[in-house]
Amino acid sequence: MISFLHVSKTYACGNIALSNVNLKISKGEFVFLTGASGAGKTTLLKMIYMDEFPDKKSSGQVLIDFGNEHFDSKKISMQGIQALRRKIGIVFQDFKLLSDKTVFENVALSLLVCSDYSQTEIKKKVLETLGTVGISQRKNALPAELSGGEQQRAAIARAMIHNPYLLIADEPTGNLDPENANEVFKIFQKINARGTAVIMATHNPTFYQNTPHRHLTMKQGILQREIL
Ligand SMILES: Nc1ncnc2c1ncn2[C@@H]1O[C@H](COP(=O)(O)OP(=O)(O)OP(=O)(O)O)[C@@H](O)[C@H]1O
Ligand SMILES: [Mg+2]
Repeated sequence: MISFLHVSKTYACGNIALSNVNLKISKGEFVFLTGASGAGKTTLLKMIYMDEFPDKKSSGQVLIDFGNEHFDSKKISMQGIQALRRKIGIVFQDFKLLSDKTVFENVALSLLVCSDYSQTEIKKKVLETLGTVGISQRKNALPAELSGGEQQRAAIARAMIHNPYLLIADEPTGNLDPENANEVFKIFQKINARGTAVIMATHNPTFYQNTPHRHLTMKQGILQREIL
């Protein structure tokens, strides 16, 4: 589903973020991504949703294959990037909810924008998704009225509303207390059990130790041997 072929990334100021990364991730996998601060985790994740690209002068390439849709970092257009991102849910450490919109509105927004759905369908889908993450009762609250754990659940619901092939989570529990962090991790496991692939960057060993999931680790831009 995801292939990285000799991917290197040097930022404009000369910072080397990725160095010859080769990687394959299959449909439906759950993968942890770890490594010290600055190791290149966020850069690697951005390559998947094509917010960053391999160095132009290198042969590096990212190929994404979502069933009958194929995306190639060497050829992709702006429309292609939009199509790719409709198939990927993204969750960040700092939630990134719109502060003047309710939980319901934050989650519904991307469905309203693409307008394939009727109002009744949107309402049904949003309420179902809020149910999956366990915050249906907070649907009319504004983000500032929610706890950190509730905000992250709302952000997960927003990421899941399109039934993505893949959920990317970049340190999603970094701002949460251990109890809420654990709840969020359980939601990711539930989402994965329903067939969505999950890639989660984390600094929290309690998640990746003693789980059956694959564990990738980065060191100074280099993908280390997999820890199985
Ligand atoms: N936009 C940018 N411009 C210049 N350098 C950058 C940029 N983004 C990241 N870097 C550099 O690239 C390297 C990898 O950064 P990246 O954010 O991918 O690391 P990370 O593993 O996600 O770290 P953290 O755990 O702190 O989030 C670092 O040296 C960082 O300073
Ligand atoms: Mg990061």
